[in-house]
Amino acid sequence: MCGIVGFTGTRAAAPVLLHGLERLEYRGYDSAGIAVLHDGKIQVEKVSGRIAKLCEKTKDGSNVPGSVGIGHTRWATHGAPTDQNAHPHVSNDGRFAVVHNGIIENYLELRKELIRDGYVFQSETDTETIVHLLELYYDGDVKAAVMKTAARLEGSYALGIVCTDEPDALFAVREASPLILGIGVGENYFASDVTALVSHTKNVIYLEDGEFARLMPDSVTVYDCTGRELQKKVSRVTWSVEAAEKGGYEHFMLKEIMEQPAAVKAALAPRIHDGRIKLDGFEITSEELKDVNKIVITACGSAYYAGCSGRYAIERLCRIPVQVELASELRYADPMVDDHTLVLVISQSGETADTIAALKECRARGAKVIGVVNVVGSTIAKLADHTLYTFAGPEIAVATTKGYTTQLAVLYLFALYISDKLGRIDAESYAALVKELQHLPRKIQQTIDMNWQLPNVASRYSSHSLFFIGRNTDYAVALEGALKMKEISYLHAESYAAGELKHGTIALIEENQPVIAVCCNEALMDKTLSNIVEVKARGAKVLALSFKGNKKIVSQADDVIFIPRAETVFSAALAVVPLQLLAYYAAKEKGCDIDKPKNLAKSVTVE
Ligand code: G6P
Repeated sequence: MCGIVGFTGTRAAAPVLLHGLERLEYRGYDSAGIAVLHDGKIQVEKVSGRIAKLCEKTKDGSNVPGSVGIGHTRWATHGAPTDQNAHPHVSNDGRFAVVHNGIIENYLELRKELIRDGYVFQSETDTETIVHLLELYYDGDVKAAVMKTAARLEGSYALGIVCTDEPDALFAVREASPLILGIGVGENYFASDVTALVSHTKNVIYLEDGEFARLMPDSVTVYDCTGRELQKKVSRVTWSVEAAEKGGYEHFMLKEIMEQPAAVKAALAPRIHDGRIKLDGFEITSEELKDVNKIVITACGSAYYAGCSGRYAIERLCRIPVQVELASELRYADPMVDDHTLVLVISQSGETADTIAALKECRARGAKVIGVVNVVGSTIAKLADHTLYTFAGPEIAVATTKGYTTQLAVLYLFALYISDKLGRIDAESYAALVKELQHLPRKIQQTIDMNWQLPNVASRYSSHSLFFIGRNTDYAVALEGALKMKEISYLHAESYAAGELKHGTIALIEENQPVIAVCCNEALMDKTLSNIVEVKARGAKVLALSFKGNKKIVSQADDVIFIPRAETVFSAALAVVPLQLLAYYAAKEKGCDIDKPKNLAKSVTVE
């Protein structure tokens, strides 16, 4: 959701900015623009629509000369996605240009004040107030103007600023919105996330809230909000350039589905030593655990559905009540969370605004917070008391796949670890389940290999409306399966706990209605089978998902997709894979923009 990039060096800035914006495309956007300093002037080029259009307009940046500039992909919030509302925005005197990610909450009040002072607005955006404030506060000292402007802003913002009076400098400001500085040789950069930086440098500085920086081609200085210089640590990024590229696959989503065996292995392997689970320094004593009366899991989107699966694993293995809450709800729910609650906050990006707010609510009530996060150095990773990284590597497709399965892997590890600490599992079962976890990557690979026929199945089951049903762990998978289908194929897909069908949904079942039935929970197999019989009796066409060798299902369903047999408590990590592929092939057949579905953003950094 909105992406910003900045470059200062000696080579042409525009191609670097355009390339950086392409890397940020996956975050979701509907317009794009760049501003480059040259000969004491700022040249701005912006378009509504895709970056390809901006590349065409600027002849891949060749008609925008200059070696210092900023760029932006905008996901419209205030004002439609038009050329005019696209960033960068320029001050009336032409001295400043600004790009912004976030929301300025007091923009209406600032806008009124600036209009009263004679400033003319070109757009409907909240961002434009920032550039006029810079002009208002500028008296020859750019740094001072940046500080005074930031002090007036309420809300969330990552800002990139250039000024014609400091033609080599970039300014970067951060408050509640991600911003990372890239440290190069003779050139420096900033970006909303590291995927835009890794092809230039692996050395980065994570700006914190309230900090800002001045970047010159050969120096980077970071300040706190009072202007005091700070000594910041330079971190090394471990993600490779190749990891952020398609590597021969038609779409990032397909590549990321195929990467799941390796990603889940990366999440599990470093945490299992000699058959024992160790959670990267996370220690909790049995005494402390006895003081915990419930676990709350909070997240958004697929991360929330990973939490729904995790709940079954934790409750079954640890016998601690688990409450799974949507972060956007929990943050306003005056939650019943206190110092006896352990909170798991799950987020691939670590930057989701609602999840961050829910985390803060829980911490303020005294709860211990554990983050389950993919992006190193992200806000949630920093705010949590302890973070368990999912090690999925960069995930570019908007619809998460390996991000989700690695979250499951970490939740399974967590459940087993806590169960053992509490003495709620015997040594033999513990050893067997650890072994089963170690087999997961191989079984995910087998699941992928067994499902080569999915493109055909997908085409038979693509319909304007689909139902996904399942019970218990299978219900959690059905939720994620339906979400994947909606997100990328735009088909209406609903998930139901199979036992709920007769309480309403069954009224919608008609001749040929596709129903996807997840049946991987052996203990509840017969129950779900009777639900299959019920919908079939009303004309439904049933595609069942079950483990290999399940003969009962073959006799009842119209089609069956198989996964290898696995311990029920971990089966979601396998069962979800064919559903991801099903959604992928359904979307492909419809010709959808699979990696960048309409209206969606990868990282939802505003409320
Ligand atoms: C957006 C994405 C979803 C993701 C959700 C939570 O809606 O499109 O794929 O599941 O945000 O993101 P997070 O980064 O917190 O896991």
